[in-house]
Amino acid sequence: MVNLGPRKPPSRKGSMADVPKDLLHTISILEKKFTVDKEMLKKITDHFVEELRKGLSKEGGSIPMNVTWVMDWPTGKEKGAYLALDMGGTNFRVAEITLDGNRGFDVTQSKYLMPKNLKVGSKDDLFDYIADCVGKFLSSSHPGETIKNISLGFTFSYPCTQPAINRGILQTWTKGFDIDDVEGHDVAPMLESALRKKGLPISVTALINDTTGTLVASNYVDPQTKMGLIFGTGCNAAYYERFCNIPKLEGLLPNDQNISPNDYMAINCEWGAFDNEHKILPRTEWDISIDNESPRPGQQCFEKMISGYYLGEILRKVLCDLYDEETIFEGRNIESLRKPYSLDASFLSQIEEDPWENLTEVESLFLNKLGIFVTESERKLIRRLAELIGTRSARLSACGVAAIIKQIDMQSGHCGADGSVFNKYPHFKARMAEALSEIFEWSSKSYKSHPITVIPAEDGSGVGAALIAALTVNRIEQGKYIGQREV
Ligand code: BGC
Repeated sequence: MVNLGPRKPPSRKGSMADVPKDLLHTISILEKKFTVDKEMLKKITDHFVEELRKGLSKEGGSIPMNVTWVMDWPTGKEKGAYLALDMGGTNFRVAEITLDGNRGFDVTQSKYLMPKNLKVGSKDDLFDYIADCVGKFLSSSHPGETIKNISLGFTFSYPCTQPAINRGILQTWTKGFDIDDVEGHDVAPMLESALRKKGLPISVTALINDTTGTLVASNYVDPQTKMGLIFGTGCNAAYYERFCNIPKLEGLLPNDQNISPNDYMAINCEWGAFDNEHKILPRTEWDISIDNESPRPGQQCFEKMISGYYLGEILRKVLCDLYDEETIFEGRNIESLRKPYSLDASFLSQIEEDPWENLTEVESLFLNKLGIFVTESERKLIRRLAELIGTRSARLSACGVAAIIKQIDMQSGHCGADGSVFNKYPHFKARMAEALSEIFEWSSKSYKSHPITVIPAEDGSGVGAALIAALTVNRIEQGKYIGQREV
């Protein structure tokens, strides 16, 4: 069991005693803008459930609810060696996973930084780089061998329409990626042709989302896990839905498949797109300007309020505005703060982690990273602001989790979560658990005794990708449907 920390994240309000009135006034305005109270949590959750259902309907909605063709739960008996590639955002990872047939596994892997210029470069540069990394990995792990008969699980963590399990037509780039000629196209052949060019004739057995991988990997080691969640650079969730609740699948299955309405299909929700039509989320002026200035305005509205890619940018924008209206940093040069996306989520984490009453670590952080001297009262305002941004992220995230809990009528069990915000952002887990207990009116004092807990997941894009490849090979061998393979 994980230690979720104290029942309530510590309140630091007491330390505001010496803060001048005008700053206290600013803080209370910020508190109003960023706080999502219990009633609002419940309203957002109910609207979220409606939107999940719309996404499953024939008409569709703004949450894509992508069908993945992962139609089996892992049994624990999956066996063999698989290659897993993970392209999710900050890093690119290549791994060889050996499943031992008894809920165990072994991983050999290499991680490569995804250079920033590749995220906005050409598609050939991107896939050639990936193929290059795969080549390096294989030549060091299998020197002198020609690898072709290995099953490949390709984790591509962006919204994709999947006509079949080994295909993925990119719907839209997210997380700051912006590469021409990929949206609207199948990425599997792009990878396969880059691999072939490097003399690696390996084809994609399964193309998966990181959340689907997380769901399957976590369920493999802990069958109580019913949801796969990512709270990292981006955010998203996957769960198994019953066929009878997926009207948009009607007519897409061959008649000879004998699928019962109670059989399951894993759904990659792509919930970052929740409320793109701005019906319910309490957006601030900073959320609106982040959206307007992003490469894809009007998309990923929910993700832009909560995921790691945007948290630092929200803080930066608020600070610049407070300077421009002469509330903070008077007479100081803040040019370093003017650069978009110059602060990341770890900057907020460090602000929230400063253990000292007078916030001397925040002082050093601003001096070292930005060359800005920050007074003690300003530091207290900044800390409160970071807390507000981080808390809002965790509480809104809880609404998505709660919506799926309601949708599948989950009474107990675990949700497996991964990602830098979930794993590293201070108090995120406790804040999310607190919000869930408000939504469901769970009364127990300790998070550990809540009926449903969000716990750290197994490695979805490695072990999960391997498992899904294994399940796919199995289906193919048994002549079972894995979607429409050729166009
Ligand atoms: C992507 C999802 C992904 C999530 C977490 C989002 O931006 O659209 O596909 O699961 O980030 O990586």
